[in-house]
Amino acid sequence: MTRTLLIGESEVPRIGLGTNRLRDTAEHAAFVRDAIAAGIRHIDTAHLYSGGRSEAAIGAALASGRPDGVVVATKGGYHDGRPETIAGEIEESLQRLRVDRIDLYYLHRVHDDVAIEDSLDAIVRERDRGRIAHIGVSNVDLAQLARARKATEIAAVQNHYNLAHREHDDVLDLCATEGIVFVPYFPLRDETPALREVAARHGATPAQVALAWLLDRSPTTLPIPGTLSIAHVRDNLAALELKLSEDDLAALDASG
Ligand SMILES: NC(=O)c1ccc[n+]([C@@H]2O[C@H](COP(=O)([O-])OP(=O)(O)OC[C@H]3O[C@@H](n4cnc5c(N)ncnc54)[C@H](OP(=O)(O)O)[C@@H]3O)[C@@H](O)[C@H]2O)c1
Repeated sequence: MTRTLLIGESEVPRIGLGTNRLRDTAEHAAFVRDAIAAGIRHIDTAHLYSGGRSEAAIGAALASGRPDGVVVATKGGYHDGRPETIAGEIEESLQRLRVDRIDLYYLHRVHDDVAIEDSLDAIVRERDRGRIAHIGVSNVDLAQLARARKATEIAAVQNHYNLAHREHDDVLDLCATEGIVFVPYFPLRDETPALREVAARHGATPAQVALAWLLDRSPTTLPIPGTLSIAHVRDNLAALELKLSEDDLAALDASG
């Protein structure tokens, strides 16, 4: 199993950090810096998280120095997919993150009343102006992903996926075939008995087994467990070293 993945030009460990509970406080900015010191290189946020305070905390944390290879991903267009709304959200995200260019920008979700091509157009324009490096899509099915890929190059897909929620197996598999990063969100949401059994065999935690299963599931998965605990950040990164046996994987697969 490979422990790193390329997002654009940056090679990052395949465990990232979800930040939807991050607040704009000195303590949380210090937590982000500690997580990077522990080895995190992929930080996932969004325009809407904590009413913008998640992005602001990350911006504050990295203002005094940004270690090489840190990739910050954010998202927009959750409540409203119109291009003019997304353009405004990109502007705010750039300011809160205190950057001239966003490393990875996702369309947060697709809207019934706006064609995905129109929503993406706002993001493509900013990419073409050099203010976004790479584009992703979130909460998409196969047909929506196909339309997105016709509209522009898609570097990453972020969907709800874990051992107990495999509705997006088809999207995950396509991403593996096409070399697109697949970011499974809510990686730790469902602790199943099988996770606990395998964890006990390895002296690991169920969370670590859940992450190791996701890492094994496809070479392009990059889970983003959400945490505000530096001990949990270290535990999550340690899942990169957890080797599940064929028997473990069979037991987990059969349970999902
Ligand atoms: N694209 C989308 O539409 C979308 C939707 C939802 C979420 N997301 C993204 O996905 C990320 C993850 O989602 P999430 O945080 O809600 O769910 P999650 O990662 O499945 O679970 C987070 C929970 O697990 C705990 N945890 C983390 N590491 C642990 C460990 N090693 N051992 C035990 N418990 C641990 C956390 O508590 P502690 O703080 O105590 O560690 C927290 O209660 C979010 O931060 C966000 O970036 C994206």
